[in-house]
Amino acid sequence: MADLDQTLRQQAYAEVEKHKHTVEADPYRLRYHVMPPVGLLNDPNGFIQVDGVYHLFYQWNPFNTGHGAKFWGHYTTKDLVTWEHHDIALAPSDWFDKNGCYSGSAIEHDGTLYLFYTGNVKDENNNRETYQVMATSKDGYKFTKEGVVINLPEGYTPHFRDPKVWKHKDHFYLVIGAQSKDLKGKAVLFRSTDLTNWEHLGAFAGAHIGPFREFGYMWECPDLFELDGQDVLVFSPQGLEPSGIYYQNLYQAGYVVGTLDYDSVEYNHGDFIELDRGFEFYAPQTTVDEKGRRIMIGWLGMPEEREEDHPTIEHKWIHAMTLPRELKLVNGKLYQRPVEELKELRKDEVTYEVVELNEKAQAFQGIEGDALEIYLETLDTVTSPIAVHIRNDVNLVYNPTDKLFKLDRISYVDHQTVEERFCHISQLNNIRIFLDISSIEVFINDGEEVFTARFYPNVEEKGISFAAGAEGTERVKLQAWKIK
Ligand code: FRU
Repeated sequence: MADLDQTLRQQAYAEVEKHKHTVEADPYRLRYHVMPPVGLLNDPNGFIQVDGVYHLFYQWNPFNTGHGAKFWGHYTTKDLVTWEHHDIALAPSDWFDKNGCYSGSAIEHDGTLYLFYTGNVKDENNNRETYQVMATSKDGYKFTKEGVVINLPEGYTPHFRDPKVWKHKDHFYLVIGAQSKDLKGKAVLFRSTDLTNWEHLGAFAGAHIGPFREFGYMWECPDLFELDGQDVLVFSPQGLEPSGIYYQNLYQAGYVVGTLDYDSVEYNHGDFIELDRGFEFYAPQTTVDEKGRRIMIGWLGMPEEREEDHPTIEHKWIHAMTLPRELKLVNGKLYQRPVEELKELRKDEVTYEVVELNEKAQAFQGIEGDALEIYLETLDTVTSPIAVHIRNDVNLVYNPTDKLFKLDRISYVDHQTVEERFCHISQLNNIRIFLDISSIEVFINDGEEVFTARFYPNVEEKGISFAAGAEGTERVKLQAWKIK
């Protein structure tokens, strides 16, 4: 398939060249997030650090802004701040991946970088087939597909994909997102000694644990890792019904914390917790880096949720990655903190040790624009609602009476409807906001809760203002930095 592989690559590069100016002319193009050079980007794949260099691959359809036969695009960074784009890592050119080199992961072993991904195939009647494929590289940039290493086991539909690989003691493991024949979401475990021959150990979550029997019809992009002696399973379940302020998006991304017995394949875990409370966050993937940090990057997007209405598609591209976030377990909950390297982006610091907020929204010198970091603290004393108004499009509001934190935005579909997302905070202390042209990431209480979203304000509108409820004047500390 060497010829087809070359042809597909050339066609993809031709798309990049053809639409370069259109893409770059988009006023909504982000400044410090990973984006596709053209077309559609979705899941982060193969996130790994090797010899000091972080590799981040991504699901990429270079040919249009819809989903299709995905390639693996490739970025690297040495500092998690400056990203370099590379040649395509995988193109959907073989019989086992002709309809897409779908999501997967990476592991380094004895000087070779191994990728595991799902070969998506549609037969002539449009029936889905799925193959788990291994590819290898000596230099980390040019990959050779070694072929199919796992075929669909009994008991599952062909919605069986997104292998995440790791090493535990003397074995390699893979977890795969699956749907059982009775249409339930599962995470399925495989074990190997040589990365090539894989033993099917069965479903370790979703199969035999109480409420999880009914937890969605498909689990995508599972990721299992150890953090502080706990086994955390991150996954993206489909089919959860909205419930109060929970599960508001079309699909969810979250985790459970527990203990996996690798011998009996029993996983005892707690309840599912959503990773993000905003609008666009899905299919995150983690890696552990050379400093021992567990770092997560998510897709700053949401599949099938009005994707065609994002205005960037007029400029021939759609979606981005979230900022890299370091994970910590605090009282059984995953906290997400923007990695400290992001401080390198800061310039023009302004600090207001004490500002008095009241019902009249106030702007502060040095705190405006479309790419900046804003930090508010000493919020534990507020007794009335406080609000941040961003570019006449997004509002953040915390109400200490019901302890609800809200992000609202003007819909990018009708430019009129106000859409809201909420989370509950038992004690608000601080808020860190990253704004990047048309994206916002809000980290509450050092990452206890996070809201991630796209928004598309009037590009001329750069104003940011702060207010508090009528009951009193709230005194808070305010800091901001422009981002390079
Ligand atoms: C999640 C997902 C994965 C799949 C990939 C295809 O967004 O649907 O399950 O591998 O995207 O691009």
